[in-house]
Amino acid sequence: MAELDDFSNFNFDDFESPGSTDTVTEEPTDISTDIRLPNGAALAVVDADQAVREYLASQLGEGVATVASLVDLEQRLGMGPVVVILGPSCVDPTDLAVVERWSRTNPEVGCVLVTSELTTTLLHTALRAGVKDVIPAPIDQMQLVDTVGRVAEGLTVRPSSPALGGIAEGDFLEPLEGEPGRVISVFSTKGGSGKSVTATNLACALARSSDRPVALIDGHLQFGDVSVMLKLQPQHTIVDAVSQIDKLDASMLQQLMTVHQPTGMMVLPAPLEPTFADQISGDQMVRLIEMLKTFVGHVIVDLPAIFNDVVISMLEASDDILLVAGLDIPNIKNVKIGLSTLSLLSIPKEHLHLVLNRADSRVKLDVGEVEKTLQLHAVAHVPSDVVVPISVNKGSPVVLSAPKSGVAREFEKLAGMFLDGVSAAPAAESASGRRRFFGS
Ligand SMILES: Nc1ncnc2c1ncn2[C@@H]1O[C@H](COP(=O)(O)OP(=O)(O)OP(=O)(O)O)[C@@H](O)[C@H]1O
Ligand SMILES: [Mg+2]
Repeated sequence: MAELDDFSNFNFDDFESPGSTDTVTEEPTDISTDIRLPNGAALAVVDADQAVREYLASQLGEGVATVASLVDLEQRLGMGPVVVILGPSCVDPTDLAVVERWSRTNPEVGCVLVTSELTTTLLHTALRAGVKDVIPAPIDQMQLVDTVGRVAEGLTVRPSSPALGGIAEGDFLEPLEGEPGRVISVFSTKGGSGKSVTATNLACALARSSDRPVALIDGHLQFGDVSVMLKLQPQHTIVDAVSQIDKLDASMLQQLMTVHQPTGMMVLPAPLEPTFADQISGDQMVRLIEMLKTFVGHVIVDLPAIFNDVVISMLEASDDILLVAGLDIPNIKNVKIGLSTLSLLSIPKEHLHLVLNRADSRVKLDVGEVEKTLQLHAVAHVPSDVVVPISVNKGSPVVLSAPKSGVAREFEKLAGMFLDGVSAAPAAESASGRRRFFGS
């Protein structure tokens, strides 16, 4: 067993001796462990081969539970969150069917598959079954430990499990015919100006009115609020999509997205941990967006109020940029500075559309003056209204929870412009077509 210590040369085939599918002798009494994982999750390793499961457990520290089959483990589920490492013997369809059932019915279980040979087909099948990540041998111990932590972090301890989740099997969206989807980024140079409120309401309004699918991406990678604002409990985040980017295809990407049940739109939430944002580059985000554009009509991207690699790449990849500004002097000053930066970055002016938020006559700022100062025409004037914080706290955007309010009407109007824009001025049309449409 000396080769087990050298896991860089580790090959699971070494363990495939006829006698290795032994009956288990070291049954654990329960699946609690000494390892401290987020959410208090337990850790278990499953493989028919005792040597393999012991090796995998040894990579994760003391006290990891090991079992020979998923059936053995199933008897111990239901007692709290657990991360399950599936050894290479678990790739057969019967085991993956069990995993698929768990992922539908038990949100407290997160599975990670370790495989001796990673093929696109296997990755596809595993992700569709609800496996959170697939790690190929030879094992990188750090990667295994990181993955286990991330999966534990994503487990939700839910008293009751609403039927939110990825797209149901068979519901995969076909590639779009005609024009690719239109990318609309929601941006501002001032934090708290209402970007996420605008992005979630616009996406919901579009999803309900458009005859083409809509996707919402939380591009605020460190502190994204989209999941909270839509009351989603996502199984996957942008990190899962980016970490598989080289193998990702359209149907796998759809599988990683969460469906917002009230509207049917597809959401790719921000990472659960702010530190995961460092793992994501602008190039990777653009590749994701380009793939999304092949099967959804509108991709809405909620961005943070900073200029960094990811934000600049997303702005460059956008057909339209909604600049959200509150109607006060600091906001307007920041937008003015932001506009100079956007100009230096060579972002075409005709891509920019001003959204005035909390635009209220009582604030004593003249909208016409603001538009003149910014040299931008406002395409929406969203009033200040208590329905907004109420809707945020409820996790139900204003267009759904207060559809008769002035705020909802303004967001519906904004969505209407993009819908009409698609029929009257497709995304690929010249900038002048859009400029005319948006009246700037
Ligand atoms: N029109 C409005 N009327 C009343 N309150 C509003 C309005 N727009 C936004 N708000 C309030 O402001 C808060 C901040 O809005 P939001 O989260 O959309 O800002 P943001 O620009 O996305 O912030 P960040 O820069 O942190 O991402 C919301 O929680 C909401 O309560
Ligand atoms: Mg925000």
